[in-house]
Amino acid sequence: MAHTIVIFGASGDLTSRKLVPALYSLFKKNRLPEQTRIVGVSRSQFEHQEWRDALRESVAQFAKELFDNETWEVFSQQVFYQAGDIKDLEDFKALGNFLDEIEEGGSEGRVYYLSTMPQLYDPAIQQLGAAGLADDSDGFRRVIIEKPFGTDLASAQALNKSIHGVFREDQIYRIDHYLGKETVQNIFALRFANSIFEPLWNHHYVDHVQITVAEEVVIGHRAGYYERSGILRDMFQNHLLQLMMITAMEPPARYDSAMVRDEKVKVLHSVRKMTGGDFASNTMRGQYEGYLQEKDVPAGSQTATYAALKLYCDNWRWKNVPFYLRSGKGMSCRTTQIVIQFKQVPHILFGEKTREPLGNRLVIQVQPAEGIQLHFETKVADSEMKTRTSTLDFDFNAATGGSMPDAYQRLLLDSMLGDASLFARSDEVELAWGIIDPIMAAWNSPAAPTLYPYPTQLWGPTESTDWMAKQGREWFDVC
Ligand code: BG6
Repeated sequence: MAHTIVIFGASGDLTSRKLVPALYSLFKKNRLPEQTRIVGVSRSQFEHQEWRDALRESVAQFAKELFDNETWEVFSQQVFYQAGDIKDLEDFKALGNFLDEIEEGGSEGRVYYLSTMPQLYDPAIQQLGAAGLADDSDGFRRVIIEKPFGTDLASAQALNKSIHGVFREDQIYRIDHYLGKETVQNIFALRFANSIFEPLWNHHYVDHVQITVAEEVVIGHRAGYYERSGILRDMFQNHLLQLMMITAMEPPARYDSAMVRDEKVKVLHSVRKMTGGDFASNTMRGQYEGYLQEKDVPAGSQTATYAALKLYCDNWRWKNVPFYLRSGKGMSCRTTQIVIQFKQVPHILFGEKTREPLGNRLVIQVQPAEGIQLHFETKVADSEMKTRTSTLDFDFNAATGGSMPDAYQRLLLDSMLGDASLFARSDEVELAWGIIDPIMAAWNSPAAPTLYPYPTQLWGPTESTDWMAKQGREWFDVC
């Protein structure tokens, strides 16, 4: 029986750079369910073959390790194009007829991928409903929704409510592509397939956690979007909070979508609410120098391109352990990493008294140097009793033969197989907005904390380094 993936927003970048290369890669690896058809929908007029030809080049580029002509020829025969306007119900009806035709009398199910502008998510969902395309009486119907899911709590709630009028929650797959990254899923393995870390994974032994998503890139031509989102909406509400949830959650009783997401959601419930002076003392914001000169950025823009937050999870495991979350554009390098900094020994026996042992740290490198390092103190050979920090190093990339699959492969496959574990649930998205909204409000108020300028290609504002130093801590600024 056929599976069909319908991509709305077919002429967009995401489709050509990520989605179709990911589907091709799955096909090449024999992971795609048999007879999977891919149908692109957007307003432009293309013949099927024209669209295939346009995609060929980007697949050859973005799935280059797996690309070959022969496989492409077979794969691309299952790729179709249907012009359609999301505002036009007749186009949805025509799409329905076209899908019936290519599914040749039956299909296991359909996945509708909304890769459109966010303001079209709701209209597209409503049209799918009105055209009868959400009806799952003869095969599953699922919808994948790209980020951003809303722009604040109220809009996310409204969107959830509206979508729930057409699709049940179990049919809705809200994407956060960070969850599709192998290294993020490896955190589940690290934490829940080993017993050696678990006894230490709590406030008794962990001093603090740092979650950093640094990007070297600046905003480029995205000012229109970025001015409305800024770093908090763009990165924290989704990716950073997801990483925090997976780091902080309790082990689920089973690895299934309900239980995994229940545990993640409990973390968000536990996040201590900021009030009053907390916004000034527990948040830092910055803007890279040159941001105001970027195309389409209005003069005097106060949009933050860097943020650091200190959050607490008020629960049994993490009481009073700070979780430092930071992200910035125009940083020293591209790196996403989670640092679990363990407490120092209670009494230092060895080494200079001025030097605290720096080890006792587990570094989870999410990207691009995928791996895990354990930093610990060892004796300097042939010294009296000096110590230095040494590293046990696991190179995840080498373990996969050097070709880590793109996050979208896993997420697309899971959506077809009906596994929503790596997708955000409605309550999760809303709770995440509930954490970010008050910070946004404080930053937009007259009492907003200073927006520090910072030079690109470093580690954000020096004030952020000072802020950590005042707390007796330091950022792990290593690429
Ligand atoms: C996106 C943000 O969600 O994630 C971008 O909108 C950001 O601003 C990107 O650059 C980062 O993703 P990755 O996978 O390159 O770390």
